[in-house]
Amino acid sequence: MVSSTVSPDTVLHQLSWRYAVKKFNSSRVIPDEIWKVLEQSLVLAPSSFGLQPWKFFVVRDREIRQQLVEHSWGQTQVVDASHLVVLAIKRDVDPADVDRYIDRMAEVRQTPTEKLQGFADVVKGFLKQPPYPP
Ligand SMILES: Cc1cc2nc3c(=O)[nH]c(=O)nc-3n(C[C@H](O)[C@H](O)[C@H](O)COP(=O)(O)O)c2cc1C
Repeated sequence: MVSSTVSPDTVLHQLSWRYAVKKFNSSRVIPDEIWKVLEQSLVLAPSSFGLQPWKFFVVRDREIRQQLVEHSWGQTQVVDASHLVVLAIKRDVDPADVDRYIDRMAEVRQTPTEKLQGFADVVKGFLKQPPYPP
């Protein structure tokens, strides 16, 4: 049995009404307590091996947001939306990134780094493979 505080019907209902907003009311601002949850949902997003090779930039400065319009196919949502998040992906993940990740994992889990070496080797081996099948 699936146990959840949100019913399956509620999930479907929410997915049915959501839509991609094309025009924002620039005078409206997402309340802080809601924004914090949205921000955390980015921070908690899963990724392959858990490496999370990305950064999220929350751009607040209106002038910078205005400059970004021309890099966003002229879409004024970039300026008018309450918050603007730029997702930056690290494309050249390297062994040093894996080592940093393993060190952090050891710290959080309070585990000796050596115990995570097998996992580190698997991830590093994976990084050596070509990104796409031939
Ligand atoms: C990867 C991706 C990129 C998108 N890029 C834009 C965009 O640049 N501008 C925009 O107005 N909507 C963008 N959208 C929203 C789609 O246009 C929208 O999801 C689609 O038309 C379906 O409409 P709905 O989400 O309202 O149901 C993007 C959606 C995805 C998934």
